[in-house]
Amino acid sequence: PVLVVDFGAQYAQLIARRVREARVYSEIVPHTWSVEQMLARRPSAVILSGGPASVYAEGAPSVDRALFEAGVPVLGICYGFQAMARALGGEVARTGTREYGGTHVTVDAPGTLLTGSPVEQSVWMSHGDSVQGAPEGFRVLATSAGSPVAAFEDADRSLYGMQWHPEVKHSSLGQRALENFLYLGAGLSPTWTPGNVVADQVEAIREQVGDARVICGLSGGVDSAVAAALVQRAVGDQLTCVFVDHGLLRAGEVEQVERDFVASTGVRLVTVDARDRFLAALAGQTDPEDKRKTIGREFIRVFEQAARDVVAESGAHGEEVRFLVQGTLYPDVVESGGGEGAANIKSHHNVGGLPDDLQFELVEPLRRLFKDEVRAVGLELGLPEAIVWRQPFPGPGLGIRIIGEVTHERLEVLRAADAIARTELTAAGLDRDIWQCPVVLLADIRSVGVQGDGRTYGHPVVLRPVSSEDAMTADWTRVPYDVLARISTRITNEVPEVNRVVLDVTSKPPGTIEWE
Ligand code: XMP
Repeated sequence: PVLVVDFGAQYAQLIARRVREARVYSEIVPHTWSVEQMLARRPSAVILSGGPASVYAEGAPSVDRALFEAGVPVLGICYGFQAMARALGGEVARTGTREYGGTHVTVDAPGTLLTGSPVEQSVWMSHGDSVQGAPEGFRVLATSAGSPVAAFEDADRSLYGMQWHPEVKHSSLGQRALENFLYLGAGLSPTWTPGNVVADQVEAIREQVGDARVICGLSGGVDSAVAAALVQRAVGDQLTCVFVDHGLLRAGEVEQVERDFVASTGVRLVTVDARDRFLAALAGQTDPEDKRKTIGREFIRVFEQAARDVVAESGAHGEEVRFLVQGTLYPDVVESGGGEGAANIKSHHNVGGLPDDLQFELVEPLRRLFKDEVRAVGLELGLPEAIVWRQPFPGPGLGIRIIGEVTHERLEVLRAADAIARTELTAAGLDRDIWQCPVVLLADIRSVGVQGDGRTYGHPVVLRPVSSEDAMTADWTRVPYDVLARISTRITNEVPEVNRVVLDVTSKPPGTIEWE
């Protein structure tokens, strides 16, 4: 792998993704790793990321000179560039000139790293210290107003560095510089393709699972669908998928799993119709936390029973069920500490804690993948676009989008309104601009309207279109007025219980994406 050494800023994941976009496999490791630990991973190259610290700050992480003498190509970025310069005897100074944001650099000698770069380019910088003199043997490639040495290289030793951030989109030729490092500097080939990922994972799953049987809970979401499809590709009918229909899904979602997913994968699927059970459990509940707890608890019980049934049925026919598939992604692995197995706490949490007598080993075929790679793998496996590009949808489903008690009738009203909003947003080509668009039924509120000659006394629905990168923060999406008008007209015409459509124009924070 290409190791991306994380110096503690938010940039390491972005760098790792950009390296993957160049179709080279990358992994993030903490800067606390020793050079021996890094070399034990047999890296094909190392990238030192940016970081928040000044190389002069007390306790600022440094880089062991031995890394540069191991014969592994290294690229230092921002803080990593300065740490590299310092370790190799260059001059780093705190000049007091800060460069932050869009900055101009002049490329004096493109060398390997900046091959193909124009002389002047706009880049993204964020630093207080700067490299004043390159270490011995290095050639200065570029300069900026605040950085007499803005990029350098020693191509003979395959050591490269740059002050600006090539991983952010504001650095116009950033991806080109990263690719120059990977392809020309480190001699790597773009082999990390969806086809190869599938082939590798299929082999790994076969090795892990052997003849045993595997169970997988499907949520209707992208991750569990792609994970299941990979396992199916690897071990075929040894896999049984369980899909709990809790009745809180949107129009068409059950069919999407039961028909489209099964048709495209050949998965053996057990659907549990638990709609009545969930409605009964939710009766009389209006508090959001109570509703969430009830739905979560019932979900575990139903899934647990279905798992027992699958285990019992398979016990009668040979191999036991020993494995449970989890759609854990790489960012979860990194965020829970990085190492192999580190994501287990979180992934167990995802299943909701199965009881002790149902002990499964986990199969996590997505633990090396970023979300965009999961989608690419899904397409490679032949999953329908509607599943691969599905927007996030919360586990408690429409249960937390009915403000008030959840009833069968209210679910029908919300499903109808939601289907119209989704159809119109899709028709307007907005699916990729919108992270998700909850439609919320204010079931306990009524307002007066007029339709035809008559007075109506109906309920409002709220449209909550948001744009986001990761759901941690979000902005309300500026959906064109004509699209909003069509949605509003159609909902009030076609859903008799709704006589008002309102738009939520709150960002997150302070508002959450969901209303409950
Ligand atoms: P909030 O409302 O916290 O939502 O801004 C952030 C993202 O998480 C989704 N969400 C959930 N997903 N179970 C889930 O699987 C949940 O209980 C849950 N609550 C919120 C929400 O749709 C948004 O994408």
